[in-house]
Amino acid sequence: MTTIFRGTILHTKAFDEFESFENGFLAVSEDGKIIGVGNDYDSWLSSYKCNPSTLSEVRLSEDQFLMPGFVDCHIHAPQYAQYGLGLDMPLLDWLNTYTFPLEAKFSDQSYALKVYKRVVEATIRCGTTLASYFATNNLESTLILAREAARQGQRALIGKVCSNCNSPDYYVETAEESAKATEKFVAELQGLKNPLVLPTITPRFALSCSKELLQELGDIAKRLDVHVQSHISENLAEVQVVKGIFKTSYAGAYDNAGLLTKKTVMAHGVHLEDEEIALLKQRGTSVAHCPASNTMLNSGMCDVQRLINAGVTVGLGTDVSGGNSVSIQDALLRALDVSKHLDFFKKQNIRGTGEAKSPDPKYAQLKYKQALYLATLGGAKALSLDHMTGNFLLGKEFDALLVDVSVVEKPVRPLNVNELIEKFIYTGNDRNIIEVFVAGKRVKAPESA
Ligand code: GUN
Ligand code: FE
Repeated sequence: MTTIFRGTILHTKAFDEFESFENGFLAVSEDGKIIGVGNDYDSWLSSYKCNPSTLSEVRLSEDQFLMPGFVDCHIHAPQYAQYGLGLDMPLLDWLNTYTFPLEAKFSDQSYALKVYKRVVEATIRCGTTLASYFATNNLESTLILAREAARQGQRALIGKVCSNCNSPDYYVETAEESAKATEKFVAELQGLKNPLVLPTITPRFALSCSKELLQELGDIAKRLDVHVQSHISENLAEVQVVKGIFKTSYAGAYDNAGLLTKKTVMAHGVHLEDEEIALLKQRGTSVAHCPASNTMLNSGMCDVQRLINAGVTVGLGTDVSGGNSVSIQDALLRALDVSKHLDFFKKQNIRGTGEAKSPDPKYAQLKYKQALYLATLGGAKALSLDHMTGNFLLGKEFDALLVDVSVVEKPVRPLNVNELIEKFIYTGNDRNIIEVFVAGKRVKAPESA
């Protein structure tokens, strides 16, 4: 069966290229690929030779639209167990007080299954069609997360977390154990033969890995040509310690181990220096911007315009549970907030603050369509999966959201396409996302269905 959606369709083709089709169509093949999109359904249909009885048509209402699924470039699956809790400390205290004790509990597989089932359900409910997950040090329970994402039909990158130093003794491995378990994890995931779920090499952060372990992980990433994810320059205290240990910049610590690759995404990057940004650009390494977490853990305000202007690919991350929301729609809104606050700061638009630290009258605030790009195609690029997902180009997999802005309250007048997406971004939530599709398969159905 070929499915044809008819109504308002929108997506982004680049940071500054939003495209929409009012009274448009989007055709999805039996195997979940986008085979037609645009305004002119009749001419597409006449060129697409098929038996009309094999077409199934879905007509969207005036309050509905179809958009690409959200991409969460950085989320900690086990931390869903403390979702919304313990947000009263900066990073290093937060890790030691709440997070390491929590993650250590994932040696219990039944506990892991309970939490991982819930986090995948919650992210799908909020429209995340692709997530890059950190699990824990524990190999077996990390495999449970991978199987759960596969079972629920979410596209996911999954990492067994690696840490062999500067960690509590109840939650640490040796470099040898960590590297061995990582290789085993990659082999097991590749054995699953599920094209939606891929392994990612996951040193927790430079602080919790020795030089030797980082090097081993860099070697594995290169040898097996797999994805890499970690944290970088999130918090000033953390940056100071890393520089002291590695005698180089934060980015340099990863680069020396061969961990900055085209398939690497680094979370945060709040405090990166210009040379480090240039290095990320040179290596093709991306950044996951996590505005909620950066605020909650008092890390700072990441200037994504600076990263983007320097040519670094940026996506969005919820960073649950450092971030207090599992929704990328919420992350998108927070990214807009942080960008405005930075702009206020740069233009001294703050009462009583005196001189701006780095006055920049030309500083450009992020616009909502640019933030939409970061939440979709930018994220797919950051995770090196933009050949498959992130927008509605022909041949890509149908990873999409059917959004209805009238779920909570019908707008007082019909909205045009720009207004529909604005309404959703600025006032929407998971209830407005009535259906979610991954690779053409519906993974969230309307509540009454
Ligand atoms: N740096 C190292 N581990 C973590 C973590 O779990 N969350 C965040 N936000 N930063 C980290
Ligand atoms: Fe994180």
